[in-house]
Amino acid sequence: MTASQQPASERVRVEWRRRTEAEYTSSAITQHLVLWLIQIGASPDLIRAGLAIVDDELVHAEMSHHAAVTAGSTTPPQLPRETLRLPRTADEPLERDVLRACVRSFCVGETLAVPLFSAMRKDCSVPVARACLDRVLVDEVRHRDFGWTLIEWLFEASPMGQELREQTRRELPPYLEARGRLYTAELQQAPVNEDERAWGLLPHPRYGEIWRRAIERDFRPRFARVGVELA
Ligand SMILES: [Fe+2]
Ligand SMILES: [Fe+2]
Repeated sequence: MTASQQPASERVRVEWRRRTEAEYTSSAITQHLVLWLIQIGASPDLIRAGLAIVDDELVHAEMSHHAAVTAGSTTPPQLPRETLRLPRTADEPLERDVLRACVRSFCVGETLAVPLFSAMRKDCSVPVARACLDRVLVDEVRHRDFGWTLIEWLFEASPMGQELREQTRRELPPYLEARGRLYTAELQQAPVNEDERAWGLLPHPRYGEIWRRAIERDFRPRFARVGVELA
């Protein structure tokens, strides 16, 4: 019996359910960000690029859900409504929250997603999982580029550009530190076996390695290019 014919483990079902929830949430928060971009008068190209991402994320959610169900999941994804939105900071200009969403979800999240999904896809051979990761990986490159185009637009074209760059200098280092702790924490977890790799699961230590590499290879040079140096 090949790995792709093995019945899926409970961990596979939970993981694909979790990915469905994450993709659906990405669709919702991108939709919210697009509304904010319209409200601050962002360039129409950026608004349209954002709208395309909303639909991509919905496709990713549908494909992930299909993988979860094929793996035998009978539990529906958990999608609390209060998480399907972006938080607004009272008494601050909207541009500051636009910047936070851009940095966290796109410059950091989508940039990291490219090497992360590429590692998940490497040994993934179960067709339903592989088809999903193929599609996600193609789209994430465009989603990453959207983040870096948006941050450049915020810094260069928005009247608050200089203040927003300073905000990033202040808020980015603690944010990266906190997010990095999630990926590099030592978890007591049974090793991911060959069948689970075939379903596109990644052993936890790989998340930490990919995160550390992304800091040096992606975040440091890309943020430096927009005038934000990381110590
Ligand atoms: Fe996605
Ligand atoms: Fe994405």
